[in-house]
Amino acid sequence: MYTERPRSNICRRKKMVKICCIGAGYVGGPTMAVIALKCPSIEVVVVDISVPRITAWNSEQLPIYEPGLDEVVEQCRGKNLFFSTNVEKHVSEADIIFVSVNTPTKTLGLGAGKAADLTYWESAARMIADVSKSDKIVVEKSTVPVKTAEAIERILTHNSKGIKFQILSNPEFLAEGTAVWDLFNPDRVLIGGRETPDGQKAIQALKKVYANWVPEERILTTNLWSAELSKLAANALLAQRISSINAMSALCEATGADVSQVSHAVGKDSRIGPKFLNASVGFGGSCFQKDILNLVYICECNGLAEVADYWKQVIKVNDYQKNRFVNRIVSSMFNTVSGKKIGVLGFAFKKDTGDTRETPAIDVCKGLLGDMARLSIYDPQVTDDQIQKDLTMNKFDWDHPVHLQPMSPIDIKQVSVVWDAYEAAKDAHGLCILTEWDEFKILDYQRIFDNMQKPAFVFDGCNVVNVGELREIGFIVYSIGKPMDPWFKDMPAMA
Ligand code: UDX
Ligand code: ADP
Repeated sequence: MYTERPRSNICRRKKMVKICCIGAGYVGGPTMAVIALKCPSIEVVVVDISVPRITAWNSEQLPIYEPGLDEVVEQCRGKNLFFSTNVEKHVSEADIIFVSVNTPTKTLGLGAGKAADLTYWESAARMIADVSKSDKIVVEKSTVPVKTAEAIERILTHNSKGIKFQILSNPEFLAEGTAVWDLFNPDRVLIGGRETPDGQKAIQALKKVYANWVPEERILTTNLWSAELSKLAANALLAQRISSINAMSALCEATGADVSQVSHAVGKDSRIGPKFLNASVGFGGSCFQKDILNLVYICECNGLAEVADYWKQVIKVNDYQKNRFVNRIVSSMFNTVSGKKIGVLGFAFKKDTGDTRETPAIDVCKGLLGDMARLSIYDPQVTDDQIQKDLTMNKFDWDHPVHLQPMSPIDIKQVSVVWDAYEAAKDAHGLCILTEWDEFKILDYQRIFDNMQKPAFVFDGCNVVNVGELREIGFIVYSIGKPMDPWFKDMPAMA
């Protein structure tokens, strides 16, 4: 009688898929943690050249603040989620490699101030080609200029030693502060790949990972270039809405309309929708400006000057809004803030994050320091070190891992960082609100008023305070896009 030979466990056990993510930053860290949580049968290793970053990911104090992230990491770290500086080992062992490294704006040479600097991406690609001994799927996760995949593909194939690489674009749409929620419930997951049988196979392999928790109809597949451009387009359109409402806020102040009422009314139109219509001191964050500059550069390279100018205007209005805010402060305080203490509430680029990249607070604070104000800054999540570094760093340098900027002794003397909103406001002539932290809505403004110099000014760059109540207390209040305080009527015209 024929009896089947028992198959060894090794034959029956399916090979565990291994994912490696290069870059343990705001995108790589949370995205991989959620993949590990939702796919217990996949081993996920996040690698980075930065030893302090990896040490922090392996500690109780994660390197980034993101609501819900601690719990996700706690559940899978050491089981199927690992953080390591052994970049080459984990890259060589992985089946799927996500690349989530920095793509700063170039500061020198061709395209300086606009084009993306792909130094970090290129060196990651060369390293992948060097250490790989088996076929790999390489996934672009960092935002990159359209056609980067093609360049990366060339580096990989020209150094491949017979190994096959498939490159996919899988842009990340998560927003900071809601990253974990966005990853759990994405509006869509976008996967772009080559329209060849191997390209389609790679798309299906990545789709299978996301299908562990994302409904099939939300996983969109496109060609490589559409996926790359969609990321830039989404950020440009979102930023454009903010610049549009911010442009309206200037007109509201001039006419007596209230920008909150205007955005509420226009947002009720289902074709427009209510989101991303909050007027503010300007948008910040690591993506919007960088991606639009990138878009502008691509348009210029393709001879589309009018299209480039259109998108440039979104950034110009953003800069205008920040300048307008500084000018408003200086002009209302008798045209000078020299030697005056200004309390600054909020430094992060938005609430629920400690991230300060491109935060409007940097430009506003630099503007006030330029007029010789003394600043006392409070943010619940941003450290003294980070604030001092941000206020002395050159434009675009924040996205380079090594910062060699010297500290300016003048700025340091003019800036103090405190751990309490009341302390920041104590004896101040004016108070500016630059991040919409919920706690700023419920401060004891009577106590703040009692401890400030008079007349006491509040400049609300995020529309968080109740203007009526603060005016009742005795403050002179400026709130973006809101009907003006009678005080401002007699002030000289703004620059
Ligand atoms: C953004 C995109 O939303 C996200 O999809 C992409 O992956 C990365 O870039 P993020 O930069 O984290 O995310 O924050 P976002 O919530 O978009 O806010 C960006 C800036 O716009 C913040 O400074 C915020 O305060 C400002 N903003 C946002 C406004 O001024 N008004 C609004 O109505 C909304
Ligand atoms: P993002 O917001 O896109 O996640 P971050 O700047 O937070 O960007 O993270 C990018 C990370 O990539 C940094 O921690 C940096 O040290 C890391 N990095 C850059 N180049 C390499 C590389 N060649 N190998 C490994 N890690 C890298």
